[in-house]
Amino acid sequence: MTKLSVNINKVATLRNARGGNVPDVVKVALDCETFGADGITVHPRPDERHIRRSDVFDLRPLLRTEFNIEGYPSPEFIDLVLKAKPHQVTLVPDSPTQLTSNAGWNTKANLEFLSDVLDRFNNAGIRTSVFVAPDAEAIEYAAKAGADRVELYTEPYATHYATNREVAVAPFVEAAKVARSLGLGLNAGHDLSLQNLQFFHSQIPWLDEVSIGHALISDALYLGLQRTIHEYKNCLI
Ligand code: PXP
Repeated sequence: MTKLSVNINKVATLRNARGGNVPDVVKVALDCETFGADGITVHPRPDERHIRRSDVFDLRPLLRTEFNIEGYPSPEFIDLVLKAKPHQVTLVPDSPTQLTSNAGWNTKANLEFLSDVLDRFNNAGIRTSVFVAPDAEAIEYAAKAGADRVELYTEPYATHYATNREVAVAPFVEAAKVARSLGLGLNAGHDLSLQNLQFFHSQIPWLDEVSIGHALISDALYLGLQRTIHEYKNCLI
C-alpha cells in the first residue's frame, strides 16, 4: 500500500497570515488523519514562515499516524528532529530563504556530511529519507550514506505530464528500480496532484509513500478536506 502523507505547511501559512490560531494547524492535521491520511508532513524552516518549532511539539504527541519532518539538516533542525523523534525525517538540500525545495541532493559530493547526519538519526531510531532527483548515482550514494529511503523529486514529472506522461514518468520508473535493487524504500513528492498522481502510482505501484501539500490543500478549497483526501487516496489504489 502506498501511504498518503499530507504536508500541512500551507495550512500554517494561512494561519500565520493573521497571527492568531485560525486555521488550527493541529486540528487540521488530526482531521486529515480522521479523513484517511496515513501520515502528516511538516517542513519547518529557520524563519518559521509556515510551520513553527512549537507546532512540531504540539503535533507530536497527538498524531496517530506517521509523522514526517523534512528540511535542511542545520544544527537547529537536527536538534529539533532528535527532540521530537518523528517516525521519519526527510533531508532536503534547500537554503533557508528558498521558496520551496527545487532540487534533490548531490549525494556524491555530500557523502560525508549526509553519512554523519544520517548516522545520528539512525542511532536515534528515526527512519531516514533523502530527497533526490531520479538519478541512479544520486540514489546509489544515498544508500552508501546510510539512508533507509529516498524521496524522488517529482516536479519534472508534474511539469511534463501534460505533454507526454509516458516520457515524463520513464526516468522515475528507472530510478525506482535502482532504489528497489539497493533495498531502499521509496517515497515521492513535489507537485503531485489529482491530475498526475494516479498515473505515477500505476507505473511505480511499489511506492511506499507520497507526500503532498500544495495541490491537496488547494483542492480542499473547492472539494472540502474530507473529499479531497478520499480522492487522493483513490489515486493510490
Ligand atoms: N517533498 C518535499 C521534500 C518538499 O519539500 C515538498 C514541499 O514542501 C513536498 C514534498 C510537497 O510538495 P507539494 O507542496 O508540491 O505537494
